[in-house]
Amino acid sequence: MKVAPSILSADFGNLQRDVEAICAAGCDFVHVDVMDGHFVPNLTIGPVVVSAIATSATKPLDIHLMVENNSFFVDLFAPLKPEYISFHIEEEKHPHRLIQKIRSLGIKPAIVLNPHTPPETIEYLLADLDMVLLMSVNPGFGGQSFIESVIPKAKKLSAMRDMINPKCLIEVDGGVNDKNVKLLKDVGVDIVVAGSYVFSHKDKKIAIESLKI
Ligand code: DX5
Ligand code: ZN
Repeated sequence: MKVAPSILSADFGNLQRDVEAICAAGCDFVHVDVMDGHFVPNLTIGPVVVSAIATSATKPLDIHLMVENNSFFVDLFAPLKPEYISFHIEEEKHPHRLIQKIRSLGIKPAIVLNPHTPPETIEYLLADLDMVLLMSVNPGFGGQSFIESVIPKAKKLSAMRDMINPKCLIEVDGGVNDKNVKLLKDVGVDIVVAGSYVFSHKDKKIAIESLKI
């Protein structure tokens, strides 16, 4: 299992310290939650702050857009050269076009599904994706409880992925901890995002290692 700590749960007064700490503690990606106050009822950070994160990070960025007007935000963040940019299928009229745009900018494209969105929605996009992110909470806030229905959903998606595009990774985001990570591993999940679990732990290295099963 790869681990992408979400900096949403970091101490924003000590962002450089916290980004350096999770990278030194062995994370695989730095997960960055971009919220616009429209698609979700919360507002986070833009390219100025994410650029500072990119400077401190020794691991690649995984940018999760929770915004309206995805294409505009892709243009804002592409110069920071993240590994992934993921956008919500619920908020995009032309997902295939946006996937092509992200890839043309040298970034791996990923799509996010809210808890209610069935995996079949992206069946005909799977061949063009590097990753699918399944939300296991309603997007907008850290520290929420894990929604269990993501387990059968990840299992279904994993079977689709094996048939259509075995290289496409599956990531799960929200309420992940050392108790539920095994359930995710067992249904074929490759990457977990963990915010409050990693940042509330005294020792971030031990927290990250407990998810790398
Ligand atoms: C929620 C964000 C998550 C969040 C995860 O909208 O997408 O990345 O920070 O935080 P935890 O792990 O605390 O649920
Ligand atoms: Zn996220």
